[in-house]
Amino acid sequence: MTTRLLHTRAQLRAALGNRSGEVGVVMTMGALHDGHRELIRVARRRCDVIVVTDFLNPLQFAPDEDLSRYPRTLDADLALCSEESVDVLFAPDVAEVYASGEPQVRVLAGPLGDVLEGASRPGHFDGVLTVVAKLLHITRPDVAYFGQKDAQQLLLIRRMVDDLDFPVQVVAVPTVREPSGLALSSRNGYLDEDDRVVAVVLSRSLSAAAAVAADGPVAVLTTAREVLDAQPALGLDYVALVDPITLRDVGPGFAGTALLALAAKVGRTRLIDNAEIELGSADG
Ligand code: PAF
Repeated sequence: MTTRLLHTRAQLRAALGNRSGEVGVVMTMGALHDGHRELIRVARRRCDVIVVTDFLNPLQFAPDEDLSRYPRTLDADLALCSEESVDVLFAPDVAEVYASGEPQVRVLAGPLGDVLEGASRPGHFDGVLTVVAKLLHITRPDVAYFGQKDAQQLLLIRRMVDDLDFPVQVVAVPTVREPSGLALSSRNGYLDEDDRVVAVVLSRSLSAAAAVAADGPVAVLTTAREVLDAQPALGLDYVALVDPITLRDVGPGFAGTALLALAAKVGRTRLIDNAEIELGSADG
């Protein structure tokens, strides 16, 4: 099936206006990879109409970040969407999305947006939530699919949808990994062979930490940190073991599901990864 490439709200409304059944949306910034393919496939199992959005949102990038060099691969994105029988690839430009110029009113992520990624990237989640809110209004889906790789983003989108009563169901899709364990990301395209050797340490640290879950939270965090510290070429930003709902650090004695989240620089490339860890017993 050939996916329709649309650029304006008017085209989108004309295309979707008389479609019946459930609409699913997969929001992306383009540079689609097999992680996005998995989001689309999960959406396809349930939804009658699939819309993929392809919009590089300037609002979520700080001036010193990689907006200008972010990969733009619209032709390949369209081909992937056609392979996956996506109905519409919606690729608006900045003026179409922010038709009144830079938005003066924004969605604020609040305290959950100030920690982990938000501590390193101030304002990032305000930019994400503002564009996600707009794209939900523009695409009007029944279901929206987001990857667990961006766990904090997923949590914040869920909170926005609940707190502000957006009429959409949010579905989380597990992270897709290379055989090496490296989580798929559009930013992996920046990595050369040497970088990849360094980058696999992220997922390796998560696996090593999960293997000692029975020893409790202190052992989990210590193990993750040891694996990360053993790779000197890795510029660790943070590694944290947090409650997945409050994002507060979990300490000794915590039992239940915790989120082990980390971010690090490999060369100039900032990568993130995370894993849910089942903590069954307390330690000291
Ligand atoms: O995860 C992303 O690709 C982006 O943050 C999103 C959700 C498409 C908003 O720009």
